[in-house]
Amino acid sequence: MCGIVGYIGERNAVDVLVDSLKRLEYRGYDSAGVAVCPDGRSAHAAHADGRVDIRKTAGRLSRLEDVLRQEPLAPAPVGIGHTRWATHGRPADHNAHPHTDENQEFIVVHNGIIENFAQLKRWLAEQGHVFQTETDTEVVPHLIRHFYRGDLVAAVREAVAHLKGAYALGIMSPREPDKLIAVKQASPLIIGLGEGENFIASDIPAVLQYTRRFYVLDEGEMAILTRDGVQVTDLTGRPVEKKVTEVTWNAEQAEKGGFPHFMLKEIFEQPRAILDTMRGRIDWEHGRVVLDEVALTPDQVRRFEKVAVVACGTAHHAGLVGKALIERWARLPVEADVASEFRYRNPLVDDRTLVLVISQSGETADTLAGLREAKARGARIVAVTNVVGSSVAREADDVIYTWAGPEIAVASTKAYVTQLVALTLLALYLAQFRGTMDVAERHAVLRELKLLPRKAEAMLARAGRMEALAREVSRWHDAFFIGRGLDYAVAMEGQLKLKEISYIHAEAYAAGELKHGTLALVDEGVPVVALATQPALREKMLSNIIEVKARGARVFALIREGDVEVAAHVDEALTLPSVHPCLAPVLAVIPLQLLAYYAAVARGTDVDKPRNLAKSVTVE
Ligand code: M6R
Repeated sequence: MCGIVGYIGERNAVDVLVDSLKRLEYRGYDSAGVAVCPDGRSAHAAHADGRVDIRKTAGRLSRLEDVLRQEPLAPAPVGIGHTRWATHGRPADHNAHPHTDENQEFIVVHNGIIENFAQLKRWLAEQGHVFQTETDTEVVPHLIRHFYRGDLVAAVREAVAHLKGAYALGIMSPREPDKLIAVKQASPLIIGLGEGENFIASDIPAVLQYTRRFYVLDEGEMAILTRDGVQVTDLTGRPVEKKVTEVTWNAEQAEKGGFPHFMLKEIFEQPRAILDTMRGRIDWEHGRVVLDEVALTPDQVRRFEKVAVVACGTAHHAGLVGKALIERWARLPVEADVASEFRYRNPLVDDRTLVLVISQSGETADTLAGLREAKARGARIVAVTNVVGSSVAREADDVIYTWAGPEIAVASTKAYVTQLVALTLLALYLAQFRGTMDVAERHAVLRELKLLPRKAEAMLARAGRMEALAREVSRWHDAFFIGRGLDYAVAMEGQLKLKEISYIHAEAYAAGELKHGTLALVDEGVPVVALATQPALREKMLSNIIEVKARGARVFALIREGDVEVAAHVDEALTLPSVHPCLAPVLAVIPLQLLAYYAAVARGTDVDKPRNLAKSVTVE
């Protein structure tokens, strides 16, 4: 996830771009850059060398401001800017946007992922194009250059016809400096409408201080902006009638995209994050997982004798799901430890162990120490992390990035679901090499993966119901979360969410374990959140639900669609759309996140910054 902006009008574009980027930093902050055309009205005359001026740097936007103070840009009426959250290519000056062709005639900022960039790059290199960066984006200006025959709009149309993946693009050229072009495909993009000026941005808050009137671009739309107007077309050039959206939010709501808290915003970003994390990693035609970033050979995979998962908190809970999937499909034994235990237990790890390190931030001290411990013992380290260039990413042998974008709220939500998706892909990938999974089953899982973003949206549509239920939850003092198999792993995450933001005491139990002691605590009115999404364990789970009901528990259950029998035994039933049981955790966690969120709001806690906690725990 990155932020892009563009400006054309009477003001100094540099000021507008930097100002707007400040409001997009939540989308990415590992590098930033701006490019301007010094004079949009007579560029060829004013710009005899046909170049734009660019300033870009690794680091936060404040670093770009320092660069601009040291090497100021001349005032200019046209420009584009970017704040980056690296996906392809580590955060570094040269990988920062804007990107250009070798002559700096076609300038591009991009948010999204170009899935076929490697093929395009090979092809363009054969045509003589020279690349300067490791980014996927750089193919775009080269493609435009390749197709440019005196008409920028036509060249952009031809170029984007070759792109696969997600892209919101801002494009300008000193050859045609009287215009800016915006293209949207699967990444958000809006056009701000002013008087004698117009704007491009990844979201409305970025330019809300300049205008309250917007076009929200839809899939496959292109906008051609001049100072005096905006023309929207589809990608074949057919005009599209757009409705103007008038925004009335205040500045604080705007920063969170209209949501009251970052956590809720991030919960609602999950369908997009799930889709992004799958992007380019599934060969749909042949029904295979393709993890180009993992350099393991089939022989190396077959040599592994076991897997050890090392992670903390929510990432550990994702690891528990990963453990079940790897064991089920790749038939490898998996241990999953919290990192603070792993490193001190003299773990049985050697060069035949694949150590899977999971961390949203990539900076958690215990996780990093676990990684180093395993590495010292000769293990192969595969990391699943959300932050490109983080310590975990740098020190691992292979990295699978979760493309969730920056997670601001302390309570992890979209990082968790993207970790689940990444681990699902890894489990399928290991199974492919080991030949341990039925091909038809792999195809069935892949088909279901494709449907997950839409099903996640369906879960989010139940937010109103969760808000209503949370009014009762907010009065609870203690709660049990119970489940079996994958449901138990999700129960662990559900109880953590409730505890950390609402401060309600909650415990997760393997449902079958209750009767070995803890059932003594279940009495009249004791809240129990029961997960019953796994068909193979449904009968047993139903018995456990009946067990707690018989003692007077008040049961909220998460069940599969149409399971009227379980529904009849509980006080409140929440249904999951039909889904492959191994993917159910991705959907099941959503109502639990919402329940915790709304309960915390009802209790008036500081949802985004819960007491005593930090987003990234860099101390032991
Ligand atoms: O950045 P990491 O994934 O390594 O963080 C690990 C835990 O600190 C983290 O998941 C924590 O449990 C969450 N904030 C809980 O929501």
